Amino acid sequence: MRLAINVDHVATLRNARKEFLPDPVAAALAAEKAGADGIVVHLREDRRHINERDVRILRQVISTKLDLEMAAIDEIIKIACDVKPELATIVPEKRMELTTEGGLNVIDNITNLKETIQILHKHNIEVSLFIEPEINQIDASAEIGADFIEIHTGIFANCSSEEEQFDELERIRNAAKHAKKLGLGVNAGHGLNYQNIKVFREIKEIDEVSIGHAIIAKAIMVGMEAAVREMRDLIRFG
Ligand code: PXP
Repeated sequence: MRLAINVDHVATLRNARKEFLPDPVAAALAAEKAGADGIVVHLREDRRHINERDVRILRQVISTKLDLEMAAIDEIIKIACDVKPELATIVPEKRMELTTEGGLNVIDNITNLKETIQILHKHNIEVSLFIEPEINQIDASAEIGADFIEIHTGIFANCSSEEEQFDELERIRNAAKHAKKLGLGVNAGHGLNYQNIKVFREIKEIDEVSIGHAIIAKAIMVGMEAAVREMRDLIRFG
């Protein structure tokens, strides 16, 4: 399982003072040095953390791969086509949310998402759709030509009992298997941390996890490289 690191919250801290530090680009380079397989940023319409300049510099300096999380809206699609990340992960975006709150409804937005995938494909950008672990959403994602799905793990992360967690993990496991059978790549993310990551090692169909908040929170205490290395080792060795 590969590890992609989301550095949005380094930019959140930088923007709190409207100055230059800490630098999300430096954080991305440190993450790569510690063994990250990719860097993730979410260029939001309101630019609350990562900005366009960050994305363009990251594109030039990182040596792994860039995953640009984005809403399927014209302004951001244009930027993506110009920047050409290796992967664009389409997420639903609401102005007032603190973070992405759930997966896309692919079925209800099929025309817009299909067009978005076609535009990004024309620019040689692979596309992932961030969805709930639901079979009908996976089928719709495959039907409109997505290359990957990213399974929303936030519900699992927030379960309050072991029974609920077990059921949600089963849903994730079945979804990952179903997606693989359809030829989709399988990523997973949201709310993953140093404790709950362990159970995901057993789901062989998951190609990559995308983790932000837990790693940046630890990095404030121990440094970016140490925080990434600890997660990388948990993924590799348990
Ligand atoms: N995947 C997606 C699609 C997200 O929107 C986010 C949050 O930016 C993440 C993964 C990472 O979530 P977390 O910050 O909780 O690790």
